[in-house]
Amino acid sequence: MENLFRLVDHEDFFSRRCIWVNGPVIVGAGPSGLATAACLREQGVPFMVLEREDCIASLWQKRTYDRLKLHLPKQFCQLPKLPFPEDFPEYPSKKQFINYLESYATKFQINPRFNECVQFARYDETSGLWRVKTKTSGSAEFEYICRWLVVATGENAECVMPEIDGLNEFKGDVIHAADYKSGEKFRGKKVLVVGCGNSGMELSLDLCNYNASPSMVVRSSVHVLPREICGKSTFELAVMLMKWLPLWFVDKLLLILAWLVLGNIAKYGLKRPAEGPLQLKNREGKTPVLDIGALEKIRSGDIKVVPGIKRLNGFSVELVNGEEHDVDAVVLATGYRSNVPCWLQEGELFSKNGFPKSPFPNGWKGNSGLYAVGFTRRGLSGASSDAIRIAQDIGLVWKQETKQKKQRTTACHRRCISQF
Ligand SMILES: Cc1cc2nc3c(=O)[nH]c(=O)nc-3n(C[C@H](O)[C@H](O)[C@H](O)COP(=O)(O)OP(=O)(O)OC[C@H]3O[C@@H](n4cnc5c(N)ncnc54)[C@H](O)[C@@H]3O)c2cc1C
Ligand SMILES: NC(=O)c1ccc[n+]([C@@H]2O[C@H](COP(=O)([O-])OP(=O)(O)OC[C@H]3O[C@@H](n4cnc5c(N)ncnc54)[C@H](OP(=O)(O)O)[C@@H]3O)[C@@H](O)[C@H]2O)c1
Repeated sequence: MENLFRLVDHEDFFSRRCIWVNGPVIVGAGPSGLATAACLREQGVPFMVLEREDCIASLWQKRTYDRLKLHLPKQFCQLPKLPFPEDFPEYPSKKQFINYLESYATKFQINPRFNECVQFARYDETSGLWRVKTKTSGSAEFEYICRWLVVATGENAECVMPEIDGLNEFKGDVIHAADYKSGEKFRGKKVLVVGCGNSGMELSLDLCNYNASPSMVVRSSVHVLPREICGKSTFELAVMLMKWLPLWFVDKLLLILAWLVLGNIAKYGLKRPAEGPLQLKNREGKTPVLDIGALEKIRSGDIKVVPGIKRLNGFSVELVNGEEHDVDAVVLATGYRSNVPCWLQEGELFSKNGFPKSPFPNGWKGNSGLYAVGFTRRGLSGASSDAIRIAQDIGLVWKQETKQKKQRTTACHRRCISQF
């Protein structure tokens, strides 16, 4: 208790409200935070979830486009302890996934404190506790003090905004993929989609469906794989093959199968990286594109593939190959990044890029009660496996300590009775 008082310096104490949390603080109420909370609930460990937005799964609810579906089969996307409803299709829609997450939060009684953005968190050596400072949307400040801190802010917490010459002088609309909902407002327009990851490909496809004319910028290389091969999910096939074969060999097989199904994609301007798709994902975290129809539109010329951008002008783009095209709007499908380095003062578990230093499956636990969930570059299945491990780890200590406390209380109770 003495330590607790010492860690709250006077100025801080009077400027913000301090709250002691009995159990871990989980930062982020996305699928990773919810999965960890559910597993902790099962272990009987109390927790508090802090979320900067006003809803759970804000990435899914606020920063994704309407046509989005999970791109991996459903068995790889459900969270621990609650399977998807049986009538869910193989690839659930965004709406179905959000409904599932809402019922997940209800079932495990997860009630995050919304509109609280964590600004700063650090471990206080003196007290052996974490200090987590938040700011609400109304600028009120709180400080949470806890023994365990679970980082669940995600791999996609902030949008990557590229530096492109002339971007500020461009006269048409410029949005990031996170703000794109549908192609409705781009009907009949020439849209430059910057980036050819899953977002760039799917938004280009969506734009075609709304009779817009997308040009997709491919500045380097990309692995495109069919979502399914002979009716079987490519991802599932890769997972199965990896049980028996080395990664490089699975990569070779995938590329042969992709070539058989999709043909030579280089002739459309989609150069493949030298490294295989799984090795590249493991080393750099670069996700291969799982094609759901964009390639067909590229073949038909409805989606134009263009090389890197030299500069943007009023209503046009100059490309590195010297071509110039008219452009009405730009969609930046340039990806996302982790925001952990902006708020977590720590250098052991996380590296400067906001991802754990140790690769999967070892990046979930740090020192002094710090944990990371959902930074495995393995989507929802990686988040689930982290969540289970974290809850078991904390649950073990929690149970031991509560048992000891109970034993002490019972012994004390017995002593009191015997004195009468
Ligand atoms: C367009 C898109 C489609 C995707 N589709 C798939 C898919 O089909 N399958 C798959 O497995 N993966 C997919 N992913 C990957 C996706 O990141 C994960 O599925 C999942 O959302 C990760 O969950 P998370 O909880 O780790 O992160 P998030 O869902 O990003 O949740 C993190 C939460 O933390 C909150 N937060 C961030 N910073 C703070 C802070 N400082 N203080 C308080 N709260 C904070 C955020 O508001 C957010 O609610 C997709 C990603 C994108 C962008
Ligand atoms: N259906 C789905 O489930 C679905 C849909 C969308 C996204 N996702 C997931 O969401 C995550 C993010 O995907 P994402 O596609 O948004 O991002 P991403 O995979 O990181 O791709 C970003 C793209 O932007 C390009 N880029 C970045 N800066 C650029 C610049 N200045 N000029 C030109 N190109 C530039 C990159 O090219 P370089 O490679 O050359 O850097 C890359 O092609 C991934 O995990 C993805 O699988 C899933």
